[in-house]
Amino acid sequence: MTTTVITNIGNLVTNDPDRGTGPLGQIQDAAVVVDDATGTVAWVGPAAEAPAADAAHDAEGRAAIPGFVDSHSHLVFAGDRTQEFNARMEGRSYEAGGIRTTVRATRAATDEELEANLVRHLDEALRQGTTTFETKSGYGLTTEDEARALRIASAHTDEVTYLGAHIVSPDYAEDPAAYVDLVTGEMLDACAPYARWVDVFCENGAFDGDQARAILTAGQAKGLMARVHANQLTYGPGVQLAVELDAASADHCTHLTDEDVAALASGNTVATLLPGAEFSTRAQWPDARRLLDAGVTVALSTDCNPGSSYTSSMPFCLALAVRDMRMTPDEALWSATAGGAQALRRTDVGRLAPGARADLALLDAPSHVHLAYRPGVPLVSRVWRRGRAVR
Ligand code: NIG
Ligand code: FE
Repeated sequence: MTTTVITNIGNLVTNDPDRGTGPLGQIQDAAVVVDDATGTVAWVGPAAEAPAADAAHDAEGRAAIPGFVDSHSHLVFAGDRTQEFNARMEGRSYEAGGIRTTVRATRAATDEELEANLVRHLDEALRQGTTTFETKSGYGLTTEDEARALRIASAHTDEVTYLGAHIVSPDYAEDPAAYVDLVTGEMLDACAPYARWVDVFCENGAFDGDQARAILTAGQAKGLMARVHANQLTYGPGVQLAVELDAASADHCTHLTDEDVAALASGNTVATLLPGAEFSTRAQWPDARRLLDAGVTVALSTDCNPGSSYTSSMPFCLALAVRDMRMTPDEALWSATAGGAQALRRTDVGRLAPGARADLALLDAPSHVHLAYRPGVPLVSRVWRRGRAVR
């Protein structure tokens, strides 16, 4: 086995409490040894105790963290919605109907254009430390356009989500029930081979609780696992439905009753908070503190999409979560890495321990706390994905 050691790491977050101190399993003056052939971690610990390796990278005292796990994005799209953003900043409110603008642009784009746009955003995210990402369809809303979005996405990630139920297709405005039949029938059949997950936007102006249940259970019957856009713009049934169906994640969770919080605390469904959306829609912040204090597992993700949250930056979302959602820097870092992994039901990413993927980001900083303490500063200086230096 040939190995590479990344050594002289001033402060390393492993997310493995057995290996280091505190809930983040931090190690001072650390090293990580990578098995080059598998791209996995072979050894983690104090640099002074590291086994000999074939090659070495000197981190020169920088901090290192597991690569970010962005468990919620919408990156197969064309066009942009600058005008809509401008209108919001002049006081208009965000509406799900804006999605139709992106549907028109996406349908008109070629496969090559969609893929180039996806790759551009992935590269942007990678430069900011994201090594695992999920992405969705949802801007095609025909069988062909949804299946092609998922086919394009699946060439770039294993975490692909079928979101034919983003909104009712404009072609079915007069007959939403027929659109639900399409999403749970022919469109699902065409999309399932490319996807791991099924999702639905359960919201006023999108799909109600009964429709959402039909869509999620049809996807589950086809072998997809569920995740739900829930309780973003208003209170509603999404969160409790997600827990009832054992969805891996209920995403947004901005408007929650005490019953919603209790349901999340009782089940295996992660609450994925997307502060980029509240930032860009000037909406109320989700209350991360309330969820954490109730014992709910919280993930942080970008929701990167051209409408409600056009940021690919996990460090930006983490800073918002600390400043405005009452998370500590440690909690936010965990949620953006291990939390995202749990929201994707993955154990091989989001932590740095033997056997896990060697996905890590070096920070031009003494610790991960600087991600929130120095918002907007490009602190990610180098990124390894599956053991390869990619930035
Ligand atoms: O997660 N909530 C629904 N979907 C996206 C917004 C998509 C759009 O506006 O284009 C979201 O915020
Ligand atoms: Fe979303």
